[in-house]
Amino acid sequence: MEVVIVPDATAGGEIIAEAVAGLLRRKPDALLGVATGSTPLPIYTALTAKVSGGEVDASRARVCQLDEYVGLPAGHPESYRSVVLRQVVEPLGLPGTSFFGPDGTAEDVQAACEEYDRALAAAGGVDLQILGIGTDGHIGFNEPCSSLRSRTRIKTLTEQTRVDNARFFDDDIDQVPHHVITQGIGTILEARHVVLLATGEGKAEAVAQTVEGPLAALVPASALQLHPHATVVVDEAAASKLKLGDYFRATYAAKPEWQGL
Ligand code: F6R
Repeated sequence: MEVVIVPDATAGGEIIAEAVAGLLRRKPDALLGVATGSTPLPIYTALTAKVSGGEVDASRARVCQLDEYVGLPAGHPESYRSVVLRQVVEPLGLPGTSFFGPDGTAEDVQAACEEYDRALAAAGGVDLQILGIGTDGHIGFNEPCSSLRSRTRIKTLTEQTRVDNARFFDDDIDQVPHHVITQGIGTILEARHVVLLATGEGKAEAVAQTVEGPLAALVPASALQLHPHATVVVDEAAASKLKLGDYFRATYAAKPEWQGL
């Protein structure tokens, strides 16, 4: 696992957006897996600036969701479909047809989950998956004790995650759904490159356990230790509990530029 420590969230967004741009230059129709929440916003802002500035052509890029709330009506502004359309698909000027995700309104949720795993495979698999991390170490919505080999399925959010996400629902926890469809940890690990961004002190403990702790279902993000190409980008605050911080800084400073992320 490569750990890159950056000064702040903006720098993290820039470095990851450059990795996405590099991928699109090599593979214009790459499939990008996108997370929602607050953390990845600087990535989408930086990528949009690169596209508007003509640094990269994203017109053939394809985008897929990491997860979706179950039971929010279609078109609800906080459904992850709406969020990804608003924050990624529309700013990049992509047609709606280049974007897909699991159906959180399906009557048969299990069938919708299986269908989503099939759709990801049929699309050739995710080239680069952007992840955030929960304060409890979740990736996607694989909450603690998720199977490390899980596939896309329904999960129940922890109380902590619902509290964390209430800010998107008028600070009213009762509006936060209990259930989500999430790519499983096994599904996420199939992406060719996984890039996790974590910012702020609130993520420091989860980051330390992910990077330096044992591989454990209790910390779902620690499964990234199994991935051959996983990059963890953290700002100084989120890096503050890493024992090997100085080593990670020195390694990145000495990295040949041609290697990219
Ligand atoms: C969202 C997702 C979650 C978030 C995580 C952190 O699609 O999969 O794992 O990345 O809950 O959320 P923020 O970035 O809002 O702290």
